Amino acid sequence: MQTNNNCIVIFGASGDLTHRKLIPALYNLFKFGRLNKFSVLGVARSELNDETFREKMREALLGTEETTPETLDAFCSHLYYQAVNTSDAADYGKLVPRLEELHTKYQTNGNTLYYMSTPPSLYGVIPECLAAHGLNEEKDGWKRIIVEKPFGYDEKTAQELDVQIHRFFEEHQIYRIDHYLGKETVQNLLVLRFSNGLFEPLWNRNYIDYVEITGAEAIGVEERGGYYDGSGAMRDMFQNHLLQVLAMVAMEPPAIINANSMRDEVAKVMHSLRPLTQDDVEHNLVLGQYTAAEIDGKEVKGYLQEKGVPANSRTETFMALRCEIENWRWAGVPFYVRTGKRLPARVTEIVIHFKTTPHPVFSQNAPENKLIIRIQPDEAISMRFGLKKPGAGFEAKEVSMDFRYADLADEQVLTAYERLLLDAMKGDATLFARTDAVHAAWKFVQPILDYKEAGGRVYEYEAGTWGPVAAEKLIAKSGRVWRKPSGKMKKKV
Ligand code: BG6
Repeated sequence: MQTNNNCIVIFGASGDLTHRKLIPALYNLFKFGRLNKFSVLGVARSELNDETFREKMREALLGTEETTPETLDAFCSHLYYQAVNTSDAADYGKLVPRLEELHTKYQTNGNTLYYMSTPPSLYGVIPECLAAHGLNEEKDGWKRIIVEKPFGYDEKTAQELDVQIHRFFEEHQIYRIDHYLGKETVQNLLVLRFSNGLFEPLWNRNYIDYVEITGAEAIGVEERGGYYDGSGAMRDMFQNHLLQVLAMVAMEPPAIINANSMRDEVAKVMHSLRPLTQDDVEHNLVLGQYTAAEIDGKEVKGYLQEKGVPANSRTETFMALRCEIENWRWAGVPFYVRTGKRLPARVTEIVIHFKTTPHPVFSQNAPENKLIIRIQPDEAISMRFGLKKPGAGFEAKEVSMDFRYADLADEQVLTAYERLLLDAMKGDATLFARTDAVHAAWKFVQPILDYKEAGGRVYEYEAGTWGPVAAEKLIAKSGRVWRKPSGKMKKKV
């Protein structure tokens, strides 16, 4: 039987992700009674000790989570710290007695979950250094390793990284995290599609006109200019999060719900994406970069003025793409995907636009049928359709039927990191990206990287707007328009 009794070793323990996401997620799992026998061993170069690490994590939790002194004390007593020079294999020897001691104390049978929350340059190094001390071997308990995004920088480096990690960890031990897959609403997409007889028969090229996927953020690059400039919207959001969401919209029903079956279907979608041609990158792709503006009376910096960003940077903070999936279900249906920073709202949503009636009986502008799946915030599903406007005549107007997650008030919904950490401890890789899908995704986006490299155009857009005008023109070519979501679902029809 799988057990989630284990020691969680976090590399990069003094970093941002650890105190912003990982420790709060573990704290909540503990608070909800989902963790029993466990310890957390923070590892980084900084010379902290158990006490100082606990103090830092306590502060972080007090700032973000609802805590009580008792739960906080109880949780923090499970936290430990070991300073290690993470690029020196010999230094990893310090982990051996530390882990032995923790496994004995918490009766965790050698089960160890390594989390690489470090700069990506260490993703190939850590597995090798662990292996130098036999810390990857599964003879006494399972050993799993979580790899944070980005998994590679392009197709070639992703392959090299795979080779490096596979030298010491087998595929069943590797968990490539994409926190979008941990979002409840993304998973719900599968239940919505595959457990309702209503939607599935319509979910194809016969009834769907086009699909829109938006991952918009109102914030800029904040303190992450240095990282972001080497990444851009394409690597930061599109190649991973948004392509995974697209795969969930487009995949076939899995034969059974398990890691292999599900991930087979995701990989098939990635392989079916129509390869982007030169014409596509020139005419079906728009890259943009935000410029300074005043938003709500406040001056907002342009991307080039952000900390850590070179003054001549061409990194895109916005991207819009029209792409297609070449298979029987989707042939000819365009998928319009866009993402960006400093847009008017923080909102991630999928809009399925259904075809209109073959002939408009009541009015020329018959309302469109749309299914809007709001991933965040204000998680919701809204079906839009036409009804008669009260009064004389037969004029139709758009109305909506809405479901909101907030209405399930008594259900406890795990956050993405809570869910994914728990799954990794249980050995369930269903919601983690598999190597073949990751490579197919990189292969698909390679022409975009090449286009950028070759000096492809990056348009400017004012912070607080929906991206460059060119993005409007991209979708307008087929007579369509992007939805301009507000970040909130309509309250009433
Ligand atoms: C991260 C990106 O992976 O996802 C960030 O690196 C981005 O730049 C974030 O802000 C968005 O995640 P979420 O869950 O807030 O939509």
